[in-house]
Amino acid sequence: MRIDILTLFPEICRAPLGESIMKRAQATGALKLGIHNLRDWATDKHRMADDAPFGGGQGMVMKPEPVFAAVEALKTGNCLVAVLTPQGKTFTQKMAADLSHSVHLIIVCGHYEGIDHRVTEHLADAEISIGDYVLTNGAIAAVVVVDAITRLLPGVLGHELSAADDSFSTGLLEAPQYTRPADFRGWKVPDVLLSGNHAEIAAWRNEQALKRTRQNRPDLIE
Ligand code: ADE
Repeated sequence: MRIDILTLFPEICRAPLGESIMKRAQATGALKLGIHNLRDWATDKHRMADDAPFGGGQGMVMKPEPVFAAVEALKTGNCLVAVLTPQGKTFTQKMAADLSHSVHLIIVCGHYEGIDHRVTEHLADAEISIGDYVLTNGAIAAVVVVDAITRLLPGVLGHELSAADDSFSTGLLEAPQYTRPADFRGWKVPDVLLSGNHAEIAAWRNEQALKRTRQNRPDLIE
């Protein structure tokens, strides 16, 4: 899959997407990632990418010209354009899974007070928010979206099944996990996990997943 990120702050994306599993996904070719500075498409002499809002108000708004120029330069025949903003639809595991089947995704990161609405209306296929809070910069949200999609691409996680029982994929949160030592400061790992009885372990995990979901995310059960 190809993903292009358009941002005024490419360095915010580079480090987190250049480590660990994201690094390996690019090395194997599963993910072809481009991180671009929107300012490279600004044409005026100061390479301005933002301006004051019409109608007044605080802050600056990202100008449409550099965003349109960048997307038009990068887009391919089969690509989706998503704008990241707190006004978008909330990003979910289901959305990550759907997007992981795309051939090419272009992510436009908002900054300052937002992006000129003509980008949303006439260029974007989707508006995505990563949650009900406001970040200083959409580049941080882009890292979250790219990571969640990339780990679902074929071959990216060591074990093909390891994404299958993630929290949310099953509809429930994952059961608690433990590792050695079996006794840490007197807090013991549940006996069933040491029993070697796979059926009992699976039943325990189901029960724990349900209990944890009821406690932390009752909305997922309703
Ligand atoms: N930019 C600022 N806050 C954001 C959010 N919650 N999701 C996506 N982009 C954002």
